[in-house]
Amino acid sequence: MDGREMRDYIPYQVEIVDIDRVTSDSYLISLQILDREVFRYRPGQFIMVSVFGLGECPISIASTPTRNTLQICIRRAGKITSGIMDSMIGDVLGVRGPCGNGFPLDFMKKDILIAGGGSGFATLRSLINFIADRREQFGNVAVAYGARTRQDLYFMQEYKGWQMAGIQVAVTVDVGDQGWTGNVGMVTSLLDRLEIPPGSAAICGPPVMINSVAARLMEKGFQLPDIFVSLERHMKCGVGKCEHCMIGPHHVCMEGPVFSYDRVRQYL
Ligand SMILES: Cc1cc2nc3c(=O)[nH]c(=O)nc-3n(C[C@H](O)[C@H](O)[C@H](O)COP(=O)(O)OP(=O)(O)OC[C@H]3O[C@@H](n4cnc5c(N)ncnc54)[C@H](O)[C@@H]3O)c2cc1C
Ligand code: FES
Repeated sequence: MDGREMRDYIPYQVEIVDIDRVTSDSYLISLQILDREVFRYRPGQFIMVSVFGLGECPISIASTPTRNTLQICIRRAGKITSGIMDSMIGDVLGVRGPCGNGFPLDFMKKDILIAGGGSGFATLRSLINFIADRREQFGNVAVAYGARTRQDLYFMQEYKGWQMAGIQVAVTVDVGDQGWTGNVGMVTSLLDRLEIPPGSAAICGPPVMINSVAARLMEKGFQLPDIFVSLERHMKCGVGKCEHCMIGPHHVCMEGPVFSYDRVRQYL
């Protein structure tokens, strides 16, 4: 077993170096930087994060490898995510990975539509900031993002910077309130407002949202193999051994979490 294979099984011990509130039930947590020679990641990959004594779970990498930071965005769901959120700066977590495949940027077209729903936006933040940092390598880039309410929107303070990098950003909420002057409705309702030539798409969110966005994009001329979706499944091992993460015949932990939509749409 070489060093990389060992890292599939043995967690790094990493210190929490910063914690920021993102919404009332989610935090952006910055972790101690790992050796870049051993820990190289791509947008769309995830890590297995453990709280010692509680267990571990898969968490998307929310930062971009183009920056000197390793971040995760955690929403309180159960025992382990609560354990991570109740940790303090200076506490140590376990990290295995990076796991999974990430977005296939070498095969994606230069015009990219990024569509996110709810907390799935964390993995797309990695991709958006990667594109913002390598802007000259991409063409027309647009982001369509929706959350339940204004209070549930992730990373609001970053939208302006993305726009200044020449990325179109459109946001919607399911339920508006008095302070909200933006769009109310599904993410699909944003697609007609954005200038999006048929290129590649990166989608992460609940299956119903993935299916409706993909259907609308195909009406707009996107080709099935150019639509990529990031999926969440319950996982145990993260390395293809336990079969907890199967979707049809596919291991989400190894073959995914990013799939070409045409490979998985029959299972969504
Ligand atoms: C690739 C990937 C990336 C992810 N990225 C993030 C991320 O960036 N941030 C984040 O906060 N979370 C992320 N998740 C989700 C997170 O891993 C899960 O919510 C995990 O179960 C949380 O563990 P927990 O102990 O806190 O909660 P759990 O105790 O696991 O409970 C979480 C919820 O899932 C339900 N549940 C638990 N087990 C099952 C099961 N086998 N079948 C159906 N429902 C079940 C529970 O009833 C509960 O409602 C990601 C998951 C995947 C697969
Ligand atoms: S999580 Fe164990 S096989 Fe995928």
